[in-house]
Amino acid sequence: MPQPPPGASVEAAGPVQSSPELLHAPFLRACRRQPTPYTPIWLMRQAGRYMREYQQIRDKVSFLELCKTPDLAAEVTITAVERLGVDAAIIFADILLILEPMGMHLEFTAGNGPVLHNPLRQATDIARLCQVAPEESLDFVLQAIRITRQHLKPHIPLIGFSGAPFTLASYMIEGGASRNYVQTKTLMYTQPEAWHTLMAFLSRNLARYLNRQIAAGVQAVQLFDSWVGNLSPADYRTFVLPHTQTLIATVTPGVPVIHFGTSTSALLELMGQAGGDVISVDYRVELDHAWSRLGTVGIQGNLDPVVLYADRPYLQQRALRILQQAGDRPGHIFNLGHGILPTTPVDNVVALVDYVHSMSERGRQSGNAI
Ligand code: CP3
Repeated sequence: MPQPPPGASVEAAGPVQSSPELLHAPFLRACRRQPTPYTPIWLMRQAGRYMREYQQIRDKVSFLELCKTPDLAAEVTITAVERLGVDAAIIFADILLILEPMGMHLEFTAGNGPVLHNPLRQATDIARLCQVAPEESLDFVLQAIRITRQHLKPHIPLIGFSGAPFTLASYMIEGGASRNYVQTKTLMYTQPEAWHTLMAFLSRNLARYLNRQIAAGVQAVQLFDSWVGNLSPADYRTFVLPHTQTLIATVTPGVPVIHFGTSTSALLELMGQAGGDVISVDYRVELDHAWSRLGTVGIQGNLDPVVLYADRPYLQQRALRILQQAGDRPGHIFNLGHGILPTTPVDNVVALVDYVHSMSERGRQSGNAI
């Protein structure tokens, strides 16, 4: 495997991005488990096809072109925040973009999701992967971050992100989405050395990418390990934890890391051990149970995205239950358990954001847990 350039793993911290407005931003205070006047909320995939403004741009450019045009990516990022009234922006990009400069042939097909046309199957495929210099091959993401930071309201934090090593490895090995992860697990079980080489390679390159995003202007980063819930705890401990742990430990100190996965109820303690200031849980666990198992970290989640299709009273009832489970403990960031689905009614999303803000603020003011 090509060696990283000298000094590549030692990242400069970059400019300090904490203006006074950002220092007091409820989202960042919650990441630090400090009290907030109301519960901050943002939504995974808050910019996307369910929004007319997004569809209008997508009528003109492909998804990859959109990601690679910094002005458009910044516009999509900011429009979502303004339309919804959420407490944080997430830069418009994709976890799979970094696979292209590694040498993978990436395509987003309409209907079938992402495809990698040259999946990894053996150690020699892994040895051929290229180290990524984000300031060269992913400069469009860094540029989109700079433009977004320039135009975003100064009190709104901007979140950067990457995929986590396991989830990206699964796309690289399977060549796309998977149901049973047969190829991924077979490589893991039969060629453990090749597996660990790949995971260490990903961990190093992802850390460098996240730190470049931080230097370009994001205030927090989220690590998406969307598919890790398909592993047993023992496999997570052996094949994933050390690599995710190294990655998180390499993120620029002082910048909050949100560690996300789905179907992770068997893995929560181990994910906590791997790291993150905030653990993001999906709707398959009760938020309060998850939080007591995790201990002293922040928690993000965990409304089922399909609840956004229900009527308002039901939606509010389900959101209230999550607020009640969080109680008056600082460190809760309201979010969905997974991304917004493409046919979600936008008005319901706006109603959810308003409801979470007003109910949690009322609860804080009355001094009672909601
Ligand atoms: O959250 C945001 O608003 C920021 C943008 C963002 C996208 N993808 C945009 C996107 C983020 C954070 C992601 C992360 C991502 N991408 C994940 C982790 C989160 C998760 O959902 O578990 C994963 C697994 C991917 C890979 C990926 N990208 C898939 C599986 C797909 C196809 C899904 C689909 O709905 O078609 C994408 C494409 C994609 N990424 C779209 C968007 C808005 C849809 C593209 C389009 O057709 O316009």
